[in-house]
Amino acid sequence: MNAKPVNLTEALQSFTEVYSPRIVARMNDYDVRVAHARGEHVWHTHADTDEFFLVLDGRFDIALRDADGHEHTVVLYQGDTYVVPRGTEHKPSSPGGSILMFEPTGTLTTGDHHEGRIPAHVDSTTGHELS
Ligand code: NI
Repeated sequence: MNAKPVNLTEALQSFTEVYSPRIVARMNDYDVRVAHARGEHVWHTHADTDEFFLVLDGRFDIALRDADGHEHTVVLYQGDTYVVPRGTEHKPSSPGGSILMFEPTGTLTTGDHHEGRIPAHVDSTTGHELS
């Protein structure tokens, strides 16, 4: 068990890859992860879990598709939080920023389903350890 405090600023400074979350804490069956964001993510869906976002820095947009296929985008800035409901297609994008996510351990960044090819700058992962 790692009982040392984790500083989010230092955690974010310890890596540079975008859309490649680091796990900063574990709580019950959940991970707290931080990531840098820049560019377009990929449309994807988490069938079994909601996904919590907190913008730590910059701007972070989440495009959402409702069951009818209509799309809208929520625009988030530092300090904003948002929960993508389970089963909702979504595609994050950002001109630059960093985020904190809270979701069940093992949740894949690209979901259970994704649309098209995963861009090279998007890491399909359940999160990496802080180094
Ligand atoms: Ni997601």
